[in-house]
Amino acid sequence: MIDIQKLLRPNIRKLKPYSSARDEYSGQEGIFLDANENTLGTLEKGVLNRYPDPYQRQLKQELQTIYNVDSANLFLGNGSDEALDLLIRAFCTPQKDKLLIMPPTYGMYSVAANINNVEIQKVPLSKDFQIQTKKVLQNVSDQTKIIMICSPNNPTANIFDPESIQKLLHRFKGIVVLDEAYVDFTKKQNGLEWLTDHKNLVVLRTFSKAWGMANIRLGMAFANQEIIEVLNKIKYPYNVNGLTIRKAQELLQKKSIKEQAVSTIIQEREKLKVALEKIEGIKTVFPSEANFLLARFKNARQLFEYLRDRNIIIRDRTREKHCQGCLRITIGTPEENIRLIEEINNFYNK
Ligand SMILES: Cc1ncc(COP(=O)(O)O)c(C=O)c1O
Repeated sequence: MIDIQKLLRPNIRKLKPYSSARDEYSGQEGIFLDANENTLGTLEKGVLNRYPDPYQRQLKQELQTIYNVDSANLFLGNGSDEALDLLIRAFCTPQKDKLLIMPPTYGMYSVAANINNVEIQKVPLSKDFQIQTKKVLQNVSDQTKIIMICSPNNPTANIFDPESIQKLLHRFKGIVVLDEAYVDFTKKQNGLEWLTDHKNLVVLRTFSKAWGMANIRLGMAFANQEIIEVLNKIKYPYNVNGLTIRKAQELLQKKSIKEQAVSTIIQEREKLKVALEKIEGIKTVFPSEANFLLARFKNARQLFEYLRDRNIIIRDRTREKHCQGCLRITIGTPEENIRLIEEINNFYNK
């Protein structure tokens, strides 16, 4: 049995959270003289002058239907990066506990661990970008509090074998964070289905990718109630602002826009892959379950600079583990993708 309370940092376990004015009364109507706001208001009186709901209850109600997960199992934050930082703060004692990552992967895991002065354990993916399950399990100790799994993985674009993820969930006695930022671009995985069986699983999702709302900074963490309560206890009181909540609700009324965008991006991804594969200077275009492609190029760094000089900005991943000669390309609009292919052709035909 996994005891979440035991896994927590001792100071977090004992923490008495800040009680905000809006914690004490959740009704909509009333004379609110409790939070030292400007009651007269300036712009959008009655809306912008008031603090937002600290627990974003209405938005969570709507998300609960979309994701088919109870709102008690949902945390909302300023991007999924906020949830990541809070999880490290909640479970890892600085200079004592460790976070395990599997490079090449999303760079923020290391940055968030470093900011929190938490040691990083690295167990690289295999050359075909899969989890080395045995090695991971051999490397974990009582100090390993969190394993980060990014699937679909950034920058490799593939999903991991579900059996490997399951194995880690069963055998590892700490917290498993499954970052599914790109999962809307694949039909092959849905980590939310594993939540009921695994008390130690946290699934991260975001509004920044398929939902097309990177600007509003809204991320989701799904987990058992005990973990969600901890995240709520340690977050800033009004961590998600009212404008963000409002824009997210507006979008949820028009869910089909997201579905259309995802379908176009997937079509464009496959078209771009075929077009890239025809270019001589390309060695490999890796299969993608995300909204980007990773490909291995001849003279990758020079190509990266050539494109940058022509105002086409892609991501140089050549220095990442197993990614020699690799560049990462976000799927653009159809017009942008045509321009990109033209310029790559120009580079190799110089
Ligand atoms: C794997 C992965 N997780 C999370 C994020 C960031 O998500 P958010 O914008 O919700 O902080 C990114 C952004 O690139 C990402 O690649």
